[in-house]
Amino acid sequence: MRLDKYIANHSSWSRSEVKRLIKQGRVRVNEQAADDKEQKIDALKDRVVVDETPILAQGKHYFVLHKPSNVVCANSHPDYPTVLDLMLDISPALKNTLQIAGRLDVDTTGLVLITDDGQWNHRVTSPRSDCYKIYEVELAEDFNESYVKDFERGMLLEGEEKPTLPANLKKIHARKFQLSLKEGRYHQVKRMFAFTGNKVIRLHRRSIGPLQLDEHLPEGAYRSLTEKEIQALAGNYNA
Ligand code: URA
Repeated sequence: MRLDKYIANHSSWSRSEVKRLIKQGRVRVNEQAADDKEQKIDALKDRVVVDETPILAQGKHYFVLHKPSNVVCANSHPDYPTVLDLMLDISPALKNTLQIAGRLDVDTTGLVLITDDGQWNHRVTSPRSDCYKIYEVELAEDFNESYVKDFERGMLLEGEEKPTLPANLKKIHARKFQLSLKEGRYHQVKRMFAFTGNKVIRLHRRSIGPLQLDEHLPEGAYRSLTEKEIQALAGNYNA
């Protein structure tokens, strides 16, 4: 198969983007910089890499997406566009297999991981994996400092049997905090601040484990994860 078609078929890049990547010298075939988009690729023998990302004919897919507000983390929705709707270069066949690793609420913005690798998804989202998620939180009222220990020790949220796992709360100012959690219970951040009698008015996920939202990935954009990032997210990391 031609190089440009091979990459476009097995990544989120379109044929015209691939052409540009080749021109920019970002594509390597068997460790050599590629300069011919029509070069023939044997999927079983040749190793194609864009920047740090290997382009595999079979195998799993891993994406990071910057979720805007008013977009839902679901495979389909009657009222809102979904994060998958934002992934314009992904084939419908691949879209059908994608899962969202740790959903955000419709009004929450920030880092979302999307994959067709169920095991990897589990490793990233399981509270046992020690993969901390960092949220930026803006509150309606000044925070009542007497609740700090509840975040540190765990709090029993309404309707739950087990207290939350210890979380890390960092004050930016009286109404702005950074919260680091390794769980992902339903509406967890909003419910934790509701426990203190406050209300979250803006919520943004800045990072998951070792992966921070890149400054140059605008709202609504996405990219493939590099091999290094995929491996790092599957490992054990503390905040
Ligand atoms: N906690 C919430 O309350 N909402 C989110 O979107 C993520 C974490």
